[in-house]
Amino acid sequence: MSNATNPGNVATYAERVARHVPGLEDLHRMAGILLAERVPTSGRVLVLGAGGGLELRAFADYQPGWRFDGVDPSSAMLAQARLALGDKASCVTLHEGYIDDAPEGPFDGATCLLTLHFLAREERLRTLRELHQRLRPGAPFVVAHHSFSQDGPQRDLWLRRNADLLVFKGVPMEQAEQGIMTMKERLPALSPEEDEALFLEAGFGEIQLFYAGFTFKGWVCYRV
Ligand SMILES: C[S@@+](CC[C@H](N)C(=O)[O-])C[C@H]1O[C@@H](n2cnc3c(N)ncnc32)[C@H](O)[C@@H]1O
Repeated sequence: MSNATNPGNVATYAERVARHVPGLEDLHRMAGILLAERVPTSGRVLVLGAGGGLELRAFADYQPGWRFDGVDPSSAMLAQARLALGDKASCVTLHEGYIDDAPEGPFDGATCLLTLHFLAREERLRTLRELHQRLRPGAPFVVAHHSFSQDGPQRDLWLRRNADLLVFKGVPMEQAEQGIMTMKERLPALSPEEDEALFLEAGFGEIQLFYAGFTFKGWVCYRV
């Protein structure tokens, strides 16, 4: 059972993700600010990998006029999103599935937070292309996930730094060590240069790095 479908894990998702992602609340705030530079006050925003609902909640609080479509393949994570949204649920339509199940739009902006690192390169590119074609020209796309050097010693250095931060925040050492192994074996992470090349290949331009927290990186780019 994956983390996204295990109900126990889903129930503690908000707590775990906040511990794992440096400055998570500020990541949501920065993503909102970057969207708001170009999304009109009554704009329509696509949130891919919307499970848990944390960024949806933050965006809906920040811009009450925005309307959202949130897409995620995990019914358990979508149920968690409904709980997180509470009284903001009326501005959001949730879709169980993948990018292909998202409405055609056109959307005024989109985000994909902490999700693309789970996708192998070809599926990542396909997903980015599908998302791209759902955006209006010039619309912002805010994206953040694990992205770090994949060169052996550098990769190990960044994974070690990440694990040390987790231990500092109270994660047991053995669990942090196991996390390093899991990331090495299962996460099809790319380097920041490879990620940026995929954004370009999918049709995005003006790619700007706005967030870096050890192995995590975040960018804003725009539909050309
Ligand atoms: C770590 S969670 C991040 C959730 C949320 N974006 C956040 O920042 O808190 C990753 C989410 O991506 C979803 N996911 C996995 N593969 C996906 C895909 N191909 N397309 C969209 N979402 C996907 C999972 O179900 C899970 O809810």
